Amino acid sequence: MNNLIKAYHNKKVLITGGLGFIGSNLAHRLVELGAQVTIIDSLIWAYGGNMFNIEDIKEKVNLNIGDIRDRYSINHLVKGQDYLFNLAGQVSHIDSMKDPFTDLEINVTGQVSILESCRQYNPGIKIIYPSSRQIYGKPQYLPVDEIHPVCPTDVNGININAGEWYHILYNNVYGIRATSLRMTNVYGPRQMIKHNRQGFIGWFVRMAVEGKKIQIYGDGEQKRDLNFVDDVCDALLMAGVSEKANGQIYNLGDQEVVSLKDLAQLIIQISGQGNFELIPWPKDKKRIDIGDYYGNFSKIKTELGWKPKTDLKNGLKITVEYYKKYLDKYLV
Ligand SMILES: NC(=O)c1ccc[n+]([C@@H]2O[C@H](COP(=O)([O-])OP(=O)(O)OC[C@H]3O[C@@H](n4cnc5c(N)ncnc54)[C@H](O)[C@@H]3O)[C@@H](O)[C@H]2O)c1
Repeated sequence: MNNLIKAYHNKKVLITGGLGFIGSNLAHRLVELGAQVTIIDSLIWAYGGNMFNIEDIKEKVNLNIGDIRDRYSINHLVKGQDYLFNLAGQVSHIDSMKDPFTDLEINVTGQVSILESCRQYNPGIKIIYPSSRQIYGKPQYLPVDEIHPVCPTDVNGININAGEWYHILYNNVYGIRATSLRMTNVYGPRQMIKHNRQGFIGWFVRMAVEGKKIQIYGDGEQKRDLNFVDDVCDALLMAGVSEKANGQIYNLGDQEVVSLKDLAQLIIQISGQGNFELIPWPKDKKRIDIGDYYGNFSKIKTELGWKPKTDLKNGLKITVEYYKKYLDKYLV
């Protein structure tokens, strides 16, 4: 913590997608650490941006409602920044199949555009990119480490992989320091729950908090490891300050592995309401499913000293309490 205060205090930090789930949680942490935070977010309705996510820090951050695809804004905004947490993205796998061009524009063209702005206007910046376990596709072995073959099952996975490699390329060729974190499923407060196209955990929580039925596809035995958002913010911050991390790719993950059925039961138990049912896989979702996944995160543990601190039960308690209190802020 002391190291992080020293590293980020009074530093200029740009967060793309800073009104979204991970970006806004990170903005809270950076404000606590004394950083000068600038956020850019497009607030496109279907995505995770929500003004309420920064309600309690809104006087302490600079907010720009804008799109990362707007090169002129980004040229201006990257100037003078010490760090860039590049968290803006189209996140829905299913939407990427229905509208591959938007995913390509935001997750690839938008990323190249940001990197070009950095190359021309701020080559000394340090960038952290949020990659995804989705790029591995259906695991050939478990737990999945960073040398596992990359074989995405959907358009979003291909574009995230391209975004990641553009960052590593700009690190290697132009010396613009960049690190990529391949995240597993992240959960916690401030996640978008107004529809269910952007990850299942937030949706399970919403259904339980509303006393409704959680629907699980197939037999519910699909296994996952999940990270609480505070632990993910730790990883982002630690990668940001580490010179060793430049040009590196790290898996995040968790030692606890849970089936979706057990996860639903745990959420229902913590919420004190809701129930669940198993239903047949919808065709469009089955086509892009990756089966069981959990990651090997020993590389980041050894090199940067990161490991998740929040166990699943506690993380879910915090999450359920948050949505019980603020549900109405996340339904519109
Ligand atoms: N949440 C997860 O489980 C997870 C797992 C792996 C990787 N990631 C990656 O982490 C990043 C953040 O994810 P999140 O869960 O916080 O999603 P989110 O949807 O909550 O946040 C993304 C933010 O980016 C903004 N945005 C989207 N397109 C934009 C554009 N063109 N210009 C400006 N802003 C734009 C959205 O408005 C939103 O606020 C994404 O790149 C995602 O792919 C997330």
